[in-house]
Amino acid sequence: MRALVVVESMFGNTLAVARAVVEGLSAGGVDGDAVPVTEAPSQVAPEVRLLVVGGPTHAFGLSREGTRADAVRQGGHPDGGADTGLREWLAALEPAEPGVASAAFDTRVRKRGIPGSAARGAEKRLARLGYAQGPTMSFWVNGVSGPLIDGELGRARAWGEELAGRVSADR
Ligand SMILES: Cc1cc2nc3c(=O)[nH]c(=O)nc-3n(C[C@H](O)[C@H](O)[C@H](O)COP(=O)(O)O)c2cc1C
Repeated sequence: MRALVVVESMFGNTLAVARAVVEGLSAGGVDGDAVPVTEAPSQVAPEVRLLVVGGPTHAFGLSREGTRADAVRQGGHPDGGADTGLREWLAALEPAEPGVASAAFDTRVRKRGIPGSAARGAEKRLARLGYAQGPTMSFWVNGVSGPLIDGELGRARAWGEELAGRVSADR
C-alpha cells in the first residue's frame, strides 16, 4: 500500500516532520514519499490509498503568497520556491478516487492562546474534494524559523505509524 505525503516548508521544520511521518508510515507497512508541494501532482496516483498533507501555519491558517514572501524575507528558502503553497495546490487538486483517505498536519509556534491551524484548513479542503476525512495534528516549533520542540520528530513518527494502522485496518 502506498501513501503520498505532500509538504510545504519555508524553513525546513515541516519537511523534517514530513520525513518522520514517512518513516512512521513505513514502519507501519505503508510506503510513501515526502514530495514538496511545488512538485506534487494535481492528480493522485491510483495506487495511493492515503494522502497526507503538511504545511506551516501562517497568519492562523494555510500560507498565502504574501505570508510566504514574508517568510522568505525572514530567511526562508522553500524547496522549489515560494510560488505555490498547499492552498494553491489544493485548489488545483483533482477530486478523490473512492476510498482514498487523507490526513493533515501543520507546524505552529507553541504559544498559549494563538489560534489557527493550517492543518484544519487543509483537511476542510480535502473533505470537499471527497477524501475520507482523517485526523489532523499540529507539531510545535519554538519560533518562526524553528527549531522543532524536542520530541516532535518522535511524535511525528508515531503519528505516521498510527495512520498506517488506520488505513490498513480500513481495507
Ligand atoms: C508570515 C508568517 C506568519 C506566521 N503566522 C503564524 C501563526 O498565525 N500561528 C503560528 O502558530 N505560527 C505562525 N508562524 C510561524 C510558522 O508556523 C513557522 O514559521 C513554521 O511552523 C515553520 O515551519 P517551516 O520551517 O516548515 O516553514 C508564522 C510564520 C510566518 C513566516
